[in-house]
Amino acid sequence: MTIENALFWMNCIKCDTVFKENEIRYVCDCGGLLDIKYDYDRLNIDIEQMKRRPLKVWRYRELMPLKKESKIVSLNEGGTTLYCCENLAKILGLKHLFVKNEGENPTGSFKDRGMTLGISKALELDKKVVACASTGNTSASLAAYSANARIRCIVLVPSAKIALGKLAQALIFGAKVLAVKGNFDDAMHIVEELASRGMIYLLNSINPYRLEGQRTLGFEIVDQMGVSPDRIVIPVGNAGNVSAVWKAMKEYETLGVIKSLPKMCGIQAAGAAPIVKMYETGAEELVPIANPETIATAIRIGNPVSWPKAIKAMRESGGTALAVTDQEIVEAQKLLARAEGIFVEPASASSIAGLKKLVERGEIDSDEYIVCITTGTGLKDPDTPIKSCKDEIIQVSINIEEITEKILGEKHEEKPQITVSL
Ligand code: F0G
Repeated sequence: MTIENALFWMNCIKCDTVFKENEIRYVCDCGGLLDIKYDYDRLNIDIEQMKRRPLKVWRYRELMPLKKESKIVSLNEGGTTLYCCENLAKILGLKHLFVKNEGENPTGSFKDRGMTLGISKALELDKKVVACASTGNTSASLAAYSANARIRCIVLVPSAKIALGKLAQALIFGAKVLAVKGNFDDAMHIVEELASRGMIYLLNSINPYRLEGQRTLGFEIVDQMGVSPDRIVIPVGNAGNVSAVWKAMKEYETLGVIKSLPKMCGIQAAGAAPIVKMYETGAEELVPIANPETIATAIRIGNPVSWPKAIKAMRESGGTALAVTDQEIVEAQKLLARAEGIFVEPASASSIAGLKKLVERGEIDSDEYIVCITTGTGLKDPDTPIKSCKDEIIQVSINIEEITEKILGEKHEEKPQITVSL
């Protein structure tokens, strides 16, 4: 279904009901999530012209569901590096491995891609108060874009389970920070209720506009590689991003930019893996996990709101869903840092841990072109690496002999050895 004369509209993924682009709603009356659909014929999309613009989120502005360019709130997001990781590829026995490092975004995570559009849309819809529930990165990003837009921002975070760097960001950007005595899922439930009472404009990924901004991650990967990769490995928490990237790939196929599609592989932490469970059992409904637990606090989520979109992305693409343990996450964080010089947070390292596991299981062909998405910088959450590397710190006195002995006394390798158990 379409809406006459509209360039874009909202569409229920469950029952196909359509809603006008400016209707304030996050789900259909049937409970289904909403997607943004476009009338591509009327959008005047010139891919070659887009490609001449700088690699940034707003390179794709004709594919962004915003009517007034004057409402754009941008901190120069997108255009993150796609690293060709030859060292890591060699260690894992692969030939073509890339890491798309989303930690390079303005507030240090991929959330900025969604927030630049989400906040611009909030202004276009004349919204004065925005809010989200967050494990940290969403709150940091929403707070920054709200500050720039000069609108009120409220964030609900699980108390004591948020990395300090992320909390510091939300605070310094001037958001009202409510530390909920519960987990992310409790906070999410509350903001959904506040939104249904009309108190706030909700900018979690249940808001389909936010995901439209996030899908530029997929467009960028293709623009950087020139083709679609064979496989994209991506961490999954509240489950919005994996479907956003998948949507981008399908749109690029529709627009004739790519001829093949990647397999989407979603990675969850073992203590918070309800979507993996669904995938493994072939279930049609998600069974929430009551007390999710993982060192990767960003994806410590037991009842992800966007699960229907995420499971569809993985099943439709012929991909997979996989759980990795905290131990595997910590090892992968170290491995990526030491093999490539890329420092990512634990949740982001889950994509590397997931890839390693897929290789070990023989599910990957060594010729495949693979992109791992690392979703956020490691600098916001130094606790994990400090703990995992603390035994490597060598205490010394201010004594040149002792220091010389420490440097030379141990077996000196030309290059640090990276241990992997393959
Ligand atoms: N990686 C990082 C670093 C994240 O912060 C998140 C989500 C994800 C992966 C998962 O993405 O939710 O789209 O599946 N963080 C949210 C937050 C929940 O509140 O910052 P997703």
